[in-house]
Amino acid sequence: MSKIASTRRVPVVSHLRVSGRYYKLVLSWSAAARRCQPGQFVSVRVQDGLEPLLRRPFGIHRVDGSRVEILYEVVGVGTRRLSCVRPGDYLDCIGPLGRGFSLPRGTAAGIVIVAGGMGVAPLVFCAQQLVRSKNRKERVAPLVLLGARSKKGILCEREFKKFGCRVHVATDDGSRGFRGNVSDLLRQHLAASEIRPSMVYGCGPYAMLAAVAVACRERAIPCEVSLEAHMACGFGACLGCAIRTMQGYKRVCAEGPVFSAPDIIWERPVPGRRP
Ligand SMILES: Cc1cc2nc3c(=O)[nH]c(=O)nc-3n(C[C@H](O)[C@H](O)[C@H](O)COP(=O)(O)OP(=O)(O)OC[C@H]3O[C@@H](n4cnc5c(N)ncnc54)[C@H](O)[C@@H]3O)c2cc1C
Ligand code: FES
Repeated sequence: MSKIASTRRVPVVSHLRVSGRYYKLVLSWSAAARRCQPGQFVSVRVQDGLEPLLRRPFGIHRVDGSRVEILYEVVGVGTRRLSCVRPGDYLDCIGPLGRGFSLPRGTAAGIVIVAGGMGVAPLVFCAQQLVRSKNRKERVAPLVLLGARSKKGILCEREFKKFGCRVHVATDDGSRGFRGNVSDLLRQHLAASEIRPSMVYGCGPYAMLAAVAVACRERAIPCEVSLEAHMACGFGACLGCAIRTMQGYKRVCAEGPVFSAPDIIWERPVPGRRP
């Protein structure tokens, strides 16, 4: 486990249903809030018994003082349990874990954020840091491309706009914005834009990230993506989350979840369900 990750029983400050199956969980956790980087994640034990056995990983969505926020979607047994947690309850959490996005030291000009579905969660923290950094000479908010199946799945648009970001939306069914995948919207933007992005940060479904990686590679644009994997230990001990990269196998939980896109050997993950 990372030497700077802390294991705590952390009090829940608030827990709200954002819409549909989406929830925002706010934890009072100063030890993690002080140290976490955008793209890192926390590993949460969602119950006190044995079912489900494994902790569940969630990207850090926002940090506000000593508070760490998580935005999540209920998709199965663990997130269903988590959705029953109430303010005042305590959760067994480990974090911050993994390696986050390598944010630029200089200007944030020309940065494009591409989010697909729940992949938006850690990218809000990324935008928050990009516009807040004291080191930055000019505060240029990144361009944000948000994708979802339909308009109901478009999350966090208001948060990005509050940071001063320009936001464009893509939906698979065309119910809002560009009709199609957000990676196609990125392609359209790259073709139309006179300014070459300095960096693309992406998070979302695997196939979308693979398409974003190809679009960036074709134009030699640096790109970092945050990958998801089924995790058992969550801190580098079990090798259960390994992916193939140009430098050999790497653990998503330890060397990732953020990787430089050209380093990844893109292949379809084996779908499955964990205990
Ligand atoms: C580094 C990292 C950061 C993440 N950040 C977030 C986040 O900010 N918000 C959020 O909602 N989710 C996030 N996830 C995914 C989240 O961990 C899973 O949705 C959660 O563990 C599902 O648990 P469950 O018990 O409800 O689902 P299960 O009952 O275990 O599974 C339900 C379905 O979800 C799929 N699934 C479960 N876990 C994963 C996974 N890790 N990767 C891909 N598919 C999975 C299963 O294949 C199955 O189809 C993240 C995952 C990783 C690895
Ligand atoms: S989940 Fe165990 S090594 Fe990554």
